[in-house]
Amino acid sequence: MANYLKFLVYLVGLISMFMMIAVSSELTPDFYNEVCPHALPTINIIVNAAIALEPRMGASLLRLHFHDCFVDGCDASILLDDTQTFTGEKTAGPNKNSVRGFEVIDTIKAAVNEVCLGNVVSCADILAVAARDSVVALGGPSYEVLLGRKDSRTASMDAANANLPTPFFDFPALLSNFELHGLNLQDLVVLSAAHTLGFARCLIYRARIYNETATIDGEFASSLKAQCPLSGKDDNLASLDMSPVSFDTAYFDDLMSKKGLLHSDQQLFKGDGGACDVLVSYYSENPGAFWSDFSSSMIKMGNISPLTGTDGEIRENCRVVN
Ligand code: HEM
Ligand SMILES: *[C@@H]1O[C@H](CO)[C@@H](O)[C@H](O)[C@H]1NC(C)=O
Repeated sequence: MANYLKFLVYLVGLISMFMMIAVSSELTPDFYNEVCPHALPTINIIVNAAIALEPRMGASLLRLHFHDCFVDGCDASILLDDTQTFTGEKTAGPNKNSVRGFEVIDTIKAAVNEVCLGNVVSCADILAVAARDSVVALGGPSYEVLLGRKDSRTASMDAANANLPTPFFDFPALLSNFELHGLNLQDLVVLSAAHTLGFARCLIYRARIYNETATIDGEFASSLKAQCPLSGKDDNLASLDMSPVSFDTAYFDDLMSKKGLLHSDQQLFKGDGGACDVLVSYYSENPGAFWSDFSSSMIKMGNISPLTGTDGEIRENCRVVN
């Protein structure tokens, strides 16, 4: 009898292991090949057009996917407007007056609904593809996006506040935030280098450039003070690395010369020869390795708790639940 029970426990363990594998491999690159072969090319055309109009949009679309995935998984929860039953993620601290690109996603969704002759492509998948296409458009690596995510029926401001890292985090807080999302130290370094694109507001980097004891290049700090005074001009933008519309390794070079814009960026290179320092200097000299590891980490991030199968829904309009 005891043996029989042991076997049963073993069997249950085995089955749940297979189920976990089945769930985590439920996303597939060819999910829309049959049901809507024009979906991905349509997304690509609109992303490229938006970036041609405003190169920063590539950065903004990449960030939208990150902020979606870190809050209850990649389920397009970030796209939901507030309703009477929930306050969504758009007004959470890390998102408010900061995340952008919603109109581009609306345009993509409407176009895809049209070419697919119906509502078959999820908003969460659109975010994942738009992020990849943005990286490619600005000179970064291409990789196959895994697809088949469904969209959430709710969103939570509290979850966004609790789950997104802040630029004031020290290294241990950054690492533990990433680990809570199933990502490791290499993912942290590689994905933070998404800051090879885009801009941040004075409000976000002020404390760092006026901090006498911060690890920051003196001339770099001074050069930022004119456009970011001690008070006022909160919304003035500075680029996150020296080439904000080109996906390159300049982010790593900047960190090595103490020119990281955010406190959280500079936490990844302290000049103490630690594990992060080693990765940063390695990627700064090996763009090929950065390209390939960035692709892998993006796929890993895109796999965070997707809704699949009969869970969730495909939203008709990304801003509202069906
Ligand atoms: C490691 C922790 C991270 C922190 C603390 C962080 C924080 C920030 C902050 C504070 C800004 C500027 C926001 C503003 O001024 O309104 C920003 C911008 C940006 N972030 Fe991050 N970020 C992190 C990781 C990531 C990751 C993993 C990605 C993507 C894979 C990413 C992509 C971006 C992009 C592309 C921008 C520029 C957006 C634009 O110009 O519209 N960040 N980030
Ligand atoms: C200034 O920098 C030091 C050293 O990195 C840090 O410990 C401190 O928290 C910073 N202060 C502010 C206000 O950012």
